[in-house]
Amino acid sequence: MGWFSAFYGSSIGKKTVVAVTGLAMIGFLVGHMLGNLQVFAGRGPTPEETKLNEYAELLRMEMGLLWAMRLGLLTALVLHVVTVIKLRGENRRARPQNYAVQRYQSANAFSRFMMWGGIALLAYVVYHILHLTMGVAHPDLFEPHHVYDNVIHSFQKPLIAGVYVLATVALYFHLYHGVVSAFQTLGVSHPRHLQNVRVLGHALAVVIVVGFVSVPVGVLLRVVS
Ligand code: HEM
Repeated sequence: MGWFSAFYGSSIGKKTVVAVTGLAMIGFLVGHMLGNLQVFAGRGPTPEETKLNEYAELLRMEMGLLWAMRLGLLTALVLHVVTVIKLRGENRRARPQNYAVQRYQSANAFSRFMMWGGIALLAYVVYHILHLTMGVAHPDLFEPHHVYDNVIHSFQKPLIAGVYVLATVALYFHLYHGVVSAFQTLGVSHPRHLQNVRVLGHALAVVIVVGFVSVPVGVLLRVVS
């Protein structure tokens, strides 16, 4: 593991860890979004034949796979957050006193923006797991294994749907800036390629966010019930 300590000890090593763990979490988000869209298949004749429940049950039947995904996701999240905190500490210590102040101020504003967006997302993920996985945030709206009903009953409440929509807006900004930074860290520097990365970042963030937001909004507007 000597090579990893040497790699992680360098600033570019840490930035690479942030980029790779971020991109891995985006992979999970794409799968999760596609799974959630099953809600628009509506209610089946029985809870077991309801598409969204079938998808959730399929995950649960493959418990090994489910726990591998959870462990991978948690590892990626912890590495991402801890490394960002370390990088911020290093940047603060290395801040120049007398020159290029303007440039560093805007870099700091960017990193503050990503930091607060990230903290908001972290709080949201905790709330979200307490809500739809563990069922303790709103116990009156939760029945184990009835994912479809839990989603419908929750998002019929404007306050809950509103929290999800706001969190998804935070996700949009974090994803867009995150994708652009990640590709820069991974070596994309030519202005023309950077322009393509910006377009890719926008497109990815828009697709993911529209996919996620459509669920609480669709339920609130009674497109599905
Ligand atoms: C607004 C759209 C969303 C809906 C409708 C939704 C729905 C759900 C549901 C129903 C579950 C529980 C699945 C089950 O117990 O079988 C779940 C779990 C989860 N969601 Fe979401 N989700 C949304 C957005 C997000 C976002 C934006 C994130 C991440 C930033 C996220 C991260 C997670 C995680 C980490 C789990 C736990 C997975 C596990 O270990 O079982 N979700 N979601």
